[in-house]
Amino acid sequence: MITLEGLTKVFPAPGGGDPVIALDGIDLHVGAGQIHGIVGRSGAGKSTLIRCLTGLEKPTSGHVRIDGTDIAALEGAELRAARRNLGMVFQHANLLDSRSAARNIAHPLEIAGVDRTARAKRVAELVELVGLQGREHNHPAQLSGGQIQRVGIARGLAAEPKVLLCDEPTSALDPGTTRQILSLIRDLRDRLGITVLMITHEMSVVREICDSVTLLEGGRVVQSGSLVDVASDPHGPLSAELIPLPPAPTGIDARLVDCDYGENPKFPDGPRSSEDLVRLAAEHGAVATIVAGTIETIAGRQVGRVQLALRNESGAAISDAGLARFLSELEARGVVAKEAIA
Ligand SMILES: Nc1ncnc2c1ncn2[C@@H]1O[C@H](COP(=O)(O)OP(=O)(O)OP(=O)(O)O)[C@@H](O)[C@H]1O
Ligand SMILES: [Mg+2]
Repeated sequence: MITLEGLTKVFPAPGGGDPVIALDGIDLHVGAGQIHGIVGRSGAGKSTLIRCLTGLEKPTSGHVRIDGTDIAALEGAELRAARRNLGMVFQHANLLDSRSAARNIAHPLEIAGVDRTARAKRVAELVELVGLQGREHNHPAQLSGGQIQRVGIARGLAAEPKVLLCDEPTSALDPGTTRQILSLIRDLRDRLGITVLMITHEMSVVREICDSVTLLEGGRVVQSGSLVDVASDPHGPLSAELIPLPPAPTGIDARLVDCDYGENPKFPDGPRSSEDLVRLAAEHGAVATIVAGTIETIAGRQVGRVQLALRNESGAAISDAGLARFLSELEARGVVAKEAIA
């Protein structure tokens, strides 16, 4: 549904110095009905990417295809028509204060010249779709942050787009409301079959609703793939961020090892669960206890980061040589493991 090919955007430096390469040859494909996350530090190029998708920014080179149409090659009326396939949701919905929720939702339809009867019908559908029944006559000042974002989403969907571009849609919301809005977005994808591009700096958002994810750095794709593939590849940069290691208890009288593992096709004899790690330690004469960890099952595959405390059979900490052997065994099986200093 969304295909980027060699997308490059170079801005002339404002003061006449070196030009800024905001996007540097991005190739990306997002299939229809997918929820795809774009993550990356500030300045990585996320907003520039969205602006190229909406046609607000012309790429320096490359192609931006949405449902087969190259947005970058269009101008004027053709571009405006193609943009109707795109809905946008922002961090702040920026509603018109003088209008009710329903009339805010109606606003893009008025601009598009939809007649009054059709507008009223569509607004009623949208109100139902985003769960705002009973609140449609409230003004923004009488709506919660989550309800305001529901209005923002309804407005983004007004023209029945095929793609919804979301730029940090939950960054201003509390965790409970964030969960509700994310589950609404997933539900809308399921019901309407739309494709969603989700720009976010929150890994919890990616974990919760994305099917696939791309990490941008300096305008380039550093890692991209399905959520389960990137999360279960401990050698990639995203797994540690997706699966955080919680703080471990202190004062443990044992050797501690942090293990980042996942069922990974590249390592068919790698551990598939935390029990496998414990068993592997036992094969090396060590008794392993999990003292901290995050274990998740994504698409039926277990991925985790755990901290193991290793002792020998008499309860003393294992030797340097024993630890070194265990660490190299883990490495050979695709686990990223290192001793943690308590
Ligand atoms: N109009 C512009 N003129 C010159 N440089 C620009 C322009 N827009 C963006 N840039 C530069 O391009 C790079 C990417 O910016 P962009 O806004 O896409 O980053 P971002 O990933 O959205 O960051 P953030 O997370 O802070 O929103 C930055 O170095 C930025 O300074
Ligand atoms: Mg930005």
